[in-house]
Amino acid sequence: MTTLPNLKHLPQHVAIIMDGNGRWAKQRGLPRLAGHKKGVNTAQKVVEIFFEYKIPHLTLYAFSTENWNRPKREIDGIFKILEERLEEGIKFAQENGIRIRHLGKPDGLPLRLQEKVKQALELTKNNSRMSVSLAFNYGGRDEIVEAARSLILGCISPQDVNEKLFSQYLYTADTPDPDLVIRTGGEMRLSNFLIWQSAYAEIYFTPVLWPDFAKKEIDKALIIYSQRQRRFGSLPPE
Ligand code: FPP
Repeated sequence: MTTLPNLKHLPQHVAIIMDGNGRWAKQRGLPRLAGHKKGVNTAQKVVEIFFEYKIPHLTLYAFSTENWNRPKREIDGIFKILEERLEEGIKFAQENGIRIRHLGKPDGLPLRLQEKVKQALELTKNNSRMSVSLAFNYGGRDEIVEAARSLILGCISPQDVNEKLFSQYLYTADTPDPDLVIRTGGEMRLSNFLIWQSAYAEIYFTPVLWPDFAKKEIDKALIIYSQRQRRFGSLPPE
């Protein structure tokens, strides 16, 4: 049983940029794909911990629209790992009432992965204890452009366009904005991740490489989050 530190505020939605698989592998003289394999194990453990902590929404950034610039061997390897591990993910989700969502474009992904994703979404669509969104073939700017395209195609009149409506055209429609964005691996940027939705998110950077990210690190991020004062552009209370 994983115990949650006693905290004043807990985020309802945590979104994670899982960075550092390649460096983790390199440090051990292993191929980059070994880092990604270890990274998926970490992702599974992290889902389990957030589930036990009863944090209702978790988003994991697994593959960006820019990651297509990597060598084909690495891309194929990542997709193969995702496809294989989604099967276990679906089983865990079904046993625990977790809804799996996909953020990003299915087009361009290998057909077998597309099928597996479709199956995961369909099988878990009525689960409501937690939602786990997997962002792959995802880019924040691309998401915004696609939303604008859908609005135009839907002939929405300009006076009806507002932030609430626009949000409904994003992949994250019906999911609250992230309260906390965590990035592992030491870089301090958002890398096109949930750029609309993270407007008021608290951001937590850690040098820990993703495969080494564990309960201790999650607790640290949650403690720091609980100490932040969120003001959403307003003033602190007197
Ligand atoms: C980031 O490390 C990792 C990726 C871009 C690849 C995909 C992530 C996984 C396979 C783990 C999660 C999986 C699921 C199912 C949610 P990097 O390669 O950019 O590392 P580097 O910065 O050290 O080179």
